[in-house]
Amino acid sequence: MKNLEGKNILIGVTGGIAAYKVVEVASRLKKLGANVKVVMTRAATEFVSPRTFQEITKNAVYVEMFGDAANFNVAHISLANFADLVLIAPATANFLAKAANGIADDLLTTTILAATAPKIFAPSMNTNMLENPATQENLKILQERGIKILDAAEGELACGISGKGRLPEPEKICEEIVKFFETEKILSGKKILVTAGGTLEPIDPVRYIGNRSSGKMGFEIAKSAKNLGAEVILIAGNVQLAPPKNLKFVKVESAEEMREKVLAEYDSVDAVIMSAAVADYRVKNISPQKIKKSEENLTLELVKNPDILKELGSLKKNQILIGFAAETENLLEYARKKLDEKNLDFIVANNVTVEGAGFGVDTNVASIIKRNGEVKNFPLMSKSDLAEKILSELIKIFGE
Ligand code: CTP
Repeated sequence: MKNLEGKNILIGVTGGIAAYKVVEVASRLKKLGANVKVVMTRAATEFVSPRTFQEITKNAVYVEMFGDAANFNVAHISLANFADLVLIAPATANFLAKAANGIADDLLTTTILAATAPKIFAPSMNTNMLENPATQENLKILQERGIKILDAAEGELACGISGKGRLPEPEKICEEIVKFFETEKILSGKKILVTAGGTLEPIDPVRYIGNRSSGKMGFEIAKSAKNLGAEVILIAGNVQLAPPKNLKFVKVESAEEMREKVLAEYDSVDAVIMSAAVADYRVKNISPQKIKKSEENLTLELVKNPDILKELGSLKKNQILIGFAAETENLLEYARKKLDEKNLDFIVANNVTVEGAGFGVDTNVASIIKRNGEVKNFPLMSKSDLAEKILSELIKIFGE
């Protein structure tokens, strides 16, 4: 089946031994119906001849920035505009460092800087180079900018050692590309409200009660939903994260304020993903002045906050409602109870005491529990990968 018909894919090949495998990637993409163009760095041409890619893709292969005076300064823009998707394979440590820092010193890096199309990078290098903090930092920066980074495979490396750093097999890379086009913009026309972070409940003008939620999970969900074409409203509590681009971002403090902003949007949205850690209680009498130190003991009286998600559940019309359950014990039992009580479509449950699943980290270990009782357990994964799993569950419900 040709499922990449009409898609323009730009492959950037950098100078790693795995460059030879990319010939097969280009060939497979071509067979799937894509129009493929290749840009190579000069180092890449030491491993594979441009002529090979030219024969496979039936397109000219680009290497030099200043090769042809007549086309000077034009190639990188036209190549950038050509691409529906950019694949960099293999992506060397040097290339990743340049891309993370916006360096444009050859045709490929200049093209990447000019290309607005979605990008997939497939790093491949020696294990130590991959694990070097500089490379890890660069990968993190690129990922945060929305670039999909394919996990390097483990195995025997060209340098003789065995470890992580191999380019994924061509078949796997092509599967990712097919998946990308299948899911691309699948949420267009949908409006999704995401809440993130902990609420902040004032005690007096300088103090508050808060919690350890960083907001990372909700931000990843908002970004992924946006990438899939949804119109996204992100309502965030006490977070230290930069607002993602191209979505409506609303900053709130208390649970009551979050409730107000959520309810104001509720009627117009197709789904709500409530990942915020809403405080269950607030201070009854907020002191208008800074509380002075006096007695040995200070008692604060707390009153219950509204349960926003429960209220959404009771007002629900056609909206899909997704909740989170952060537990320290009896995970599935408590999560199921919340699913029922809050009238949710599914709930994402995580035991915050498990390593890698707590607050503030970039990973999570979670289970999705559906209304029909089905449970999906996920292993330790990045919050951005978990965001994709949550959204693919939501997409399924939209499709039903
Ligand atoms: N939630 C909410 N409003 C609240 C408390 C929680 O909307 N006042 C939402 C959370 O955003 C989450 C879900 O309800 O999606 C479950 O939150 P959680 O804190 O795990 O559970 P609670 O209902 O607060 O119950 P408990 O604290 O007793 O576990």
